[in-house]
Amino acid sequence: MAALTQLAKRIAKRSARVGVIGLGYVGLPLAVEFAKEGFRVTGIDLDPRRVKGVTRARSYILDVSSADLRQLRRSGRLRATSSFDALRQQDAIIICVPTPLRKTREPDMQYIVSATQEIAKRVRRGQLIVLESTTYPGTTDEVILPALTARGLKVGRDFCLAFSPERIDPGNPTHTTRTIPKVIGGLTPRCTQLAMALYGSAIHRTVPVSSAKVAEMVKLLENTFRAVNIGLVNEIALICDRLGIDVWEVIEAARTKPFGFMAFYPGPGIGGHCIPSDPMYLAWKVRVHGYEARFIELATQINSSMPEHVVNKVAQVLNDRRKALRGSRVLLLGLAYKKDVGDVRDSPAFDIARLLEERGADLLYHDPFVPSAELNGTVRRSIALTASALRQTDCVVVVTNHSNVDYGFVLRHAPVIVDTRNQYAGPPRRSRRVVKL
Ligand SMILES: NC(=O)c1ccc[n+]([C@@H]2O[C@H](COP(=O)([O-])OP(=O)(O)OC[C@H]3O[C@@H](n4cnc5c(N)ncnc54)[C@H](O)[C@@H]3O)[C@@H](O)[C@H]2O)c1
Repeated sequence: MAALTQLAKRIAKRSARVGVIGLGYVGLPLAVEFAKEGFRVTGIDLDPRRVKGVTRARSYILDVSSADLRQLRRSGRLRATSSFDALRQQDAIIICVPTPLRKTREPDMQYIVSATQEIAKRVRRGQLIVLESTTYPGTTDEVILPALTARGLKVGRDFCLAFSPERIDPGNPTHTTRTIPKVIGGLTPRCTQLAMALYGSAIHRTVPVSSAKVAEMVKLLENTFRAVNIGLVNEIALICDRLGIDVWEVIEAARTKPFGFMAFYPGPGIGGHCIPSDPMYLAWKVRVHGYEARFIELATQINSSMPEHVVNKVAQVLNDRRKALRGSRVLLLGLAYKKDVGDVRDSPAFDIARLLEERGADLLYHDPFVPSAELNGTVRRSIALTASALRQTDCVVVVTNHSNVDYGFVLRHAPVIVDTRNQYAGPPRRSRRVVKL
């Protein structure tokens, strides 16, 4: 216990050293917040480009400024390395590695497992380990704990272990790492208490729960809630399409209800590292217990069918103009999975691109945040959005509604637009050249 009492004192005095494994969308902003609070922070990442980015104070994450990195580098409070030996000196270690899906749509735990093995080789008395990666309930108890106790250390007595889900929304300036409440579940009450003390020094509000499992489930409830509600509103969009009703107008009116309704919006499908994958972690875990997560399966089915719906719309608007999809030039406006970010992971734009090319379309794309990308096995560059480029297309598809695109200009020059984001809400939507989802 003496070692943990020491740790509590070091956290209170900000002299505790904090190690962050994985310097991505989650890890880098978190490392920066702790360093800003006076902790000495070491980021560990296998990707040398990310280590170099931090070392040279060049931010590669939208929500972190290079100016902040420069200041923290100069103060000596933030450094990055690829060497796991740095873990020995850390008082707290926070794991922020990816948790993708395998091709079989099962959890791919290799990143958590390998980070855990590196910690297990070096774990010592007086350390606090926190997992932040989104994962199925039970991971902290079943995967991390056995590895860390293998050499005889006892959790809650010699070292502490907790789960605290990351809820960051990249590109959202209103809710940030510092202001989003942090749910924390430790393996023992002492673990929860120490993790609360650590996060409480850099984050406005901490929310304790009774176990790591509960904290893991909180995150999956939140993201399953989003995936299922988006699935529902996508189905309503498909229904409205058949009934000739503008789904966007329906939602705008429905959201005037001051209670019992929360607006979700349809779109070309879901993307990013979280919403498509996280519910599958839960579905997989519960399937092992002989239960089928039906809402998750249904929402996944509907959300994954949206790219096909978009491509059918494109074919329909071209047909109305006496054109075939085969041989038509189709410009995808936006590749990123959501507005104002350059993250293309699991973006529905790639499914739309694949389906369009399978049906013979010539593809182009413009995305101010994505200068180049591999589409259907070929690396392409974002084209300049000029009047002549737009005039030479047969159809423009608004896939992502980035704020820094001049949509009025696009409307003036494109022959026809399929708008999956209701970007052309208001008067221009009556234009016969804009067709909505
Ligand atoms: N991106 C988001 O919006 C978001 C939001 C909430 C939660 N999450 C969750 O947070 C976790 C991290 O997501 P992310 O978006 O930051 O991922 P990311 O891919 O941006 O960053 C992960 C980093 O971890 C590094 N890495 C992988 N294995 C490693 C290892 N063994 N040791 C050291 N470094 C390693 C990678 O090189 C990468 O730089 C995931 O579980 C994700 O589901 C992400």
